[in-house]
Amino acid sequence: MVFLSLLAISWIFLLIQYATASVTVYGLTGAIAPTDTASASTSAASPAYTGQAAFNTIVLTAPALPNPAPATQFGLQLQNSAQNVVGLSIQQSGAFYGFSIEMSVVTQVSQYPPSLSACATAVLTSPIRLSSRYQFARTFINPPFLNLMSLITQRAGRVNIRVGGNTQETAVLVDSLPDGLAIQKDKVDSSNPTETPTLIFTAEIIYMLANVSQLVNTKWYLGVPMNDTANLRLQIAEAAESILGNNLLGLQLGNEPDLYSGHGHRPPTYSPFDYFGEFSVVVQAIQDNSNIPIRNNLIAPSVATGPWIPEDVWNTGFIPAYTNSLGALAVEHYPDDNCAAAFPDAGFGPPKDPQTVFQNYLTHTSGINIVQPYLNSSLIAQQSGKPFLMFETNSASCGGFPGVSDSFGAALWALDYGLQMAYSNFSGALLHVGGADDTYNPFTPPPTNETGFHQWTIGPTFYSVLAMSETLGNTNTSQLVDLQANGNNEFTPAYAVYEGGSLARLALFNFITDPSGANDYTVSISIGGGDTGQPNGTPAQVSVKYLLAPSVAEKENITWAGQTLGAMFKADGRLQGSEQVQTVTCDQNANTCDVKVPAPGFALVFLTDNALQESNPQSTMTFSTSSVTRTINTATVDPAVLATSNGQNGQVRAGLGSTSKGSVNAARAAIIVPSIATLLALLAGLSILGVLSRTTS
Ligand SMILES: *[C@@H]1O[C@H](CO)[C@@H](O)[C@H](O)[C@H]1NC(C)=O
Ligand SMILES: *[C@@H]1O[C@H](CO)[C@@H](O)[C@H](O)[C@H]1NC(C)=O
Ligand SMILES: *[C@@H]1O[C@H](CO)[C@@H](O)[C@H](O)[C@H]1NC(C)=O
Ligand SMILES: *[C@@H]1O[C@H](CO)[C@@H](O)[C@H](O)[C@H]1NC(C)=O
Ligand SMILES: *[C@@H]1O[C@H](CO)[C@@H](O)[C@H](O)[C@H]1NC(C)=O
Ligand SMILES: *[C@@H]1O[C@H](CO)[C@@H](O)[C@H](O)[C@H]1NC(C)=O
Ligand SMILES: *[C@@H]1O[C@H](CO)[C@@H](O)[C@H](O)[C@H]1NC(C)=O
Repeated sequence: MVFLSLLAISWIFLLIQYATASVTVYGLTGAIAPTDTASASTSAASPAYTGQAAFNTIVLTAPALPNPAPATQFGLQLQNSAQNVVGLSIQQSGAFYGFSIEMSVVTQVSQYPPSLSACATAVLTSPIRLSSRYQFARTFINPPFLNLMSLITQRAGRVNIRVGGNTQETAVLVDSLPDGLAIQKDKVDSSNPTETPTLIFTAEIIYMLANVSQLVNTKWYLGVPMNDTANLRLQIAEAAESILGNNLLGLQLGNEPDLYSGHGHRPPTYSPFDYFGEFSVVVQAIQDNSNIPIRNNLIAPSVATGPWIPEDVWNTGFIPAYTNSLGALAVEHYPDDNCAAAFPDAGFGPPKDPQTVFQNYLTHTSGINIVQPYLNSSLIAQQSGKPFLMFETNSASCGGFPGVSDSFGAALWALDYGLQMAYSNFSGALLHVGGADDTYNPFTPPPTNETGFHQWTIGPTFYSVLAMSETLGNTNTSQLVDLQANGNNEFTPAYAVYEGGSLARLALFNFITDPSGANDYTVSISIGGGDTGQPNGTPAQVSVKYLLAPSVAEKENITWAGQTLGAMFKADGRLQGSEQVQTVTCDQNANTCDVKVPAPGFALVFLTDNALQESNPQSTMTFSTSSVTRTINTATVDPAVLATSNGQNGQVRAGLGSTSKGSVNAARAAIIVPSIATLLALLAGLSILGVLSRTTS
């Protein structure tokens, strides 16, 4: 409350207060201590880099070895049956981790001059620059995007994506735009920091999402504008429900309402009760709108957990009042911010030194501390029969920390944090994709002016999502337990995953970097036996996939089971190289399996053949990069979509080995695999956008 009254003083001052309050330093001891910005920062010189943040080349130094270092040999005694395990999570889907794509580029502190370099449509298609304005036209769907999503859907069955963010509040759906454009955003007056840019778009954008869903099993969350509940704009909800059908997962109503007053969008007195009242207005309008037939799919309250905690909203009676309208309860959070560096003149104080904050992410304590304030809410959600979602998150707001957010350390962090959320009964989490000004993107298209010679840049956290999908599998029955491994050492966390009621996988982390190998650890796994009261159950052998890089500071040389998505500007969204799955022979007499985890590294141990097969797609649908083009003016975009195998299915590969432009022979493909024929049939629809011919003036 003291904090809220401070917020009233001025917009910028409020923002500073918020940022300061949100600074959290995770000590190596696990202590959590709010600090002021000054003491959390050092002014040590950061490496100079002046290009776009998403493509920064800053490589930090891996933190020194902890003292004492964790034991390099320890045992894990496990039970085979979930029934014998205390504290298992609710059942989870392999699509637990999804993505949140900023609808248009606005930074986390939405009023700052937005960069116009990327947005949801830039990820899906490519932006076109027209004189001084940036506009977006749907010309084709980016194949690398489809390939990346395909990697997830092949393992998890689906991928969940939210398109939204701050701009959803003022977005306007119109019938048409000049020049056949699908989306447009005028450059805002950069001297007026409170001006939120208005995003104007047509239903084409939603059709584009529907087209994506037809190609890869993508489910969408969209946002309903809430900037003006006296003059509602529910057209987005109408169009989304009619165009996306059951590919629409839900509609977010209110994005970080606890920041509304701080950002100048509501009076300083704006409280959870005011939000409750406004929510009621929209719920009623939806009830009265026959074009919005699905009325139980709202996502709320999505507090940033800054000025308000979720309990402030629950205490208004929110859940029982709106239980018939709510599809899920949600929060949003970033554990730190880089606002001082992102906005040097905004009064945030000295910038934080990425090298100093790096170690905060390289520990199990980080995920535990982020999740802790939500444990009460995840329980309340469960008791209310609602999924509980982390609707937008990443390593640090205001763009993340260069060298940290885009390091292998961030991949380990995001994977541990995601598993901690799953263990703590969240039902899903969406990693934010901001744009070229952000270092934390799981994937970033090349700058518009460089699409001719550059490909995509895959952030390390994409590997976290990939590994997460395999860790949880595709049966929707995975339950997790944090094993508090190695004496609950914060550098060597481990989780057990039960699927269909039985032990299926183990997730093992080593956050330490030590190229000498002296801090690799070996875990001795025992199933049953010992003092479990169960017979020995250790299998004859287990399989292991590793997520590896030479150091937590590494940015490009990252592999999952020996395969990589490629270095900066080198990715087309397909895994490169041959897959390497290690086989470990167990000692069934001693009832032990010894698995090594390098420093640094993550190991996913498959305890059964079924668990391994489920995570190893026999074929992967891929999309040709030949349809990527920079020739916007001619716009003879080749929409060819190639379906090919992942090297596992010779028959498919034989028929579709070509990746050259327009080379798919429909008849031949149709004979080979029916599913590809389906894909090509969809291309007829896709070609409507693929050959969308337009000229720019
Ligand atoms: C809400 O957004 C719409 C569309 O951008 C804008 O026209 C309107 O002025 C806004 N209303 C308020 C109260 O901010
Ligand atoms: C793809 O988009 C076009 C609009 O250009 C639309 O007519 C078509 O129905 C969409 N396809 C699907 C499967 O939604
Ligand atoms: C959990 O939340 C409820 C509802 O806001 C609140 O009444 C209760 O005190 C909270 N419990 C804890 C342990 O924070
Ligand atoms: C998650 O939910 C399960 C089932 O209700 C419960 O047993 C477990 O304690 C919960 N875990 C946490 C961390 O709250
Ligand atoms: C493309 O644009 C970015 C951002 O303005 C700039 O940094 C980069 O140098 C440009 N690249 C080329 C090849 O002009
Ligand atoms: C998993 O859950 C999703 C969403 O409810 C559902 O569509 C899918 O069919 C389920 N998968 C299985 C194997 O039951
Ligand atoms: C990439 O990292 C692996 C260890 O993860 C190392 O063995 C290999 O030599 C590295 N490759 C390059 C090109 O640096």
